[in-house]
Amino acid sequence: MMEDYGYERWVEYIASVFKRLGVHPTSMVDIACGTGNMTIPLVKSGYEMIGIDSSEDMLYVAKEKAFSMGLSIPFIHQDIRNLSLHRPVDAIICMCDGFNYILSDQDLLSVFSKIYALLNDKGILLFDISSYYKLRNILGNNLMADASEDISLIWFNTFDDKDDICRMDLTFFVKKESAYKRFDETHYQRAYRLNDIKNFLLEVGFTKIEVFSPFTFESPKVKDNRWVFIAQKL
Ligand SMILES: C[S@@+](CC[C@H](N)C(=O)[O-])C[C@H]1O[C@@H](n2cnc3c(N)ncnc32)[C@H](O)[C@@H]1O
Repeated sequence: MMEDYGYERWVEYIASVFKRLGVHPTSMVDIACGTGNMTIPLVKSGYEMIGIDSSEDMLYVAKEKAFSMGLSIPFIHQDIRNLSLHRPVDAIICMCDGFNYILSDQDLLSVFSKIYALLNDKGILLFDISSYYKLRNILGNNLMADASEDISLIWFNTFDDKDDICRMDLTFFVKKESAYKRFDETHYQRAYRLNDIKNFLLEVGFTKIEVFSPFTFESPKVKDNRWVFIAQKL
């Protein structure tokens, strides 16, 4: 499902963000790291990484992938709403919707505040989220399907305008020998307004905040699928 996200492109983009800001982070934490699709290429690029996620299943896959590549990466089971680290770090990233899974303003503000406290001076918080437009107008109240030989997916979404939450009911059929096994999952993603996120970042202490269209240093647009936020602790 994540094939189109462009992880290698993100690795290059993250390096270009650091260069632009004149920082050289060594220690970095990938929060809501999933199966390590971003953590692992960043380790290969020379960063000292920790991966954090609340799903043991995702972390199991991340650990297996790292092990099979001969990489030793600490993957920690933690809910980022209770984020804690042994020592401050130079950068924290949260890629591909991690913060859309934080459903309330209060929780997001609290996560940002914890992140701010855990960053070294000049430390960077970099994340991308699905835009309000994408969750409300493209995914929301829509039915999608995708079929290939090994896996088929039916994806039914409803958007609640009262709380700006997109509920995604996913049904997978995964090929197992001569039959298909069915799996069901429900995801909830919160659609945030760009300015609300900016204000939360300001509220917890970040003074330098930039927002871009993905893979660019151009101003974000309302109809972008994603927005990239870069906040620095100065
Ligand atoms: C769409 S995946 C993105 C994974 C990864 N960042 C990537 O780019 O491949 C979202 C991830 O957020 C994790 N997640 C959701 N809520 C979380 C929370 N409160 N604390 C930690 N991880 C969370 C999920 O378990 C899932 O692995």
